[in-house]
Amino acid sequence: MLVLGLESSCDETAAAVVEDGTRVLADVVASQNEVHAPYGGVVPELASRAHVVNVIPVLRGALDQAGVSLDKIDAVAVTCGPGLVGALLVALETAKALAWVRGLPLVGVHHLEGHLSAVYLDGDPPPLPHLALIVSGGHTSLVRVDGHGDVVELGATRDDAAGEAFDKGAKLLGLGYPGGAVVDRLAKDGDPHAIEFPRAMVSRDTGDAFSFSGLKTSLLHHVRSHGVPEGKALADVCASYQHAIVEVLVRKTRRAARRLAIEHVQICGGVAANSGLRAAMRAAGEEDGFRVYVPPPARCTDNAAMIASAGYWHLAAGERAGLDLNARASWPLPGRRA
Ligand SMILES: Nc1ncnc2c1ncn2[C@@H]1O[C@H](COP(=O)(O)OP(=O)(O)OP(=O)(O)O)[C@@H](O)[C@H]1O
Ligand SMILES: [Mg+2]
Repeated sequence: MLVLGLESSCDETAAAVVEDGTRVLADVVASQNEVHAPYGGVVPELASRAHVVNVIPVLRGALDQAGVSLDKIDAVAVTCGPGLVGALLVALETAKALAWVRGLPLVGVHHLEGHLSAVYLDGDPPPLPHLALIVSGGHTSLVRVDGHGDVVELGATRDDAAGEAFDKGAKLLGLGYPGGAVVDRLAKDGDPHAIEFPRAMVSRDTGDAFSFSGLKTSLLHHVRSHGVPEGKALADVCASYQHAIVEVLVRKTRRAARRLAIEHVQICGGVAANSGLRAAMRAAGEEDGFRVYVPPPARCTDNAAMIASAGYWHLAAGERAGLDLNARASWPLPGRRA
């Protein structure tokens, strides 16, 4: 089954063609970083307008890359939440128009189910059940994945997401937006133990929940007392700040893996592209005896191949959306709560 995936939930316009939920024939992403960078964050109306400009070229690019015409597509999967409503509507209406004129089955995909599905693309996917650490711009959750679209959320952040902590930290350091990848790059030349930033909610009684807002405040105090660092001092701050985020993520994940006796752990979402997190989780897995699965960096951040994959499992289960499918700004990850 060839599924066309479409995604426009935030500031990436993306289209992809994926065969049977696993083999990527095309994966095209138009980023809007340059549009939003001057504002230090995503401006919703500018995002919607850029999606309107980009969606058809991106769709055409994906069909060209796959070497197929629209009449070879078997179904359409589109992100319908959570995200910026004006942004979501662009891919959603494009998907509905395509489904209507071509008479194709349509399915709406939860964006985080998309992130969870990136690991099934072109590789060696983790067996079920497995543990997943979802770390993105807007979400941080630990979930047990029992099947496609069948998850149990063990815990989530009480305030900022890990990606938000990276982005807000980068902004305080004058590193632009989005700053996660810049902090990652600068951290490579720094000492992760130079500054002791706080680790929040690490005691056992906090369960599988996370908190990152105090860390950002601690960086703010550091910058107020020492000024915005430069050179080696900047590298040290980036390395120490990243280490504080990574250490909590890894500590909580390995604790949950041990408790649930799970031997397979995936990391997904934009922060899964972080080299420090990837290395630290792999090292923890080697020590504790769990295997770590992480998509390549470009499949950690938003893309439509992961949406086509997530949509495929719903389509294969017989699910179909009507042409009244609508966007949802907030939408808890479908599944059970621990
Ligand atoms: N190498 C990296 N190190 C740390 N963070 C990174 C890295 N690369 C990307 N990120 C972060 O990942 C986030 C973007 O991820 P993603 O595209 O999944 O988020 P989103 O789609 O905006 O949010 P969500 O998926 O929660 O709706 C940003 O916060 C960005 O800074
Ligand atoms: Mg995302």
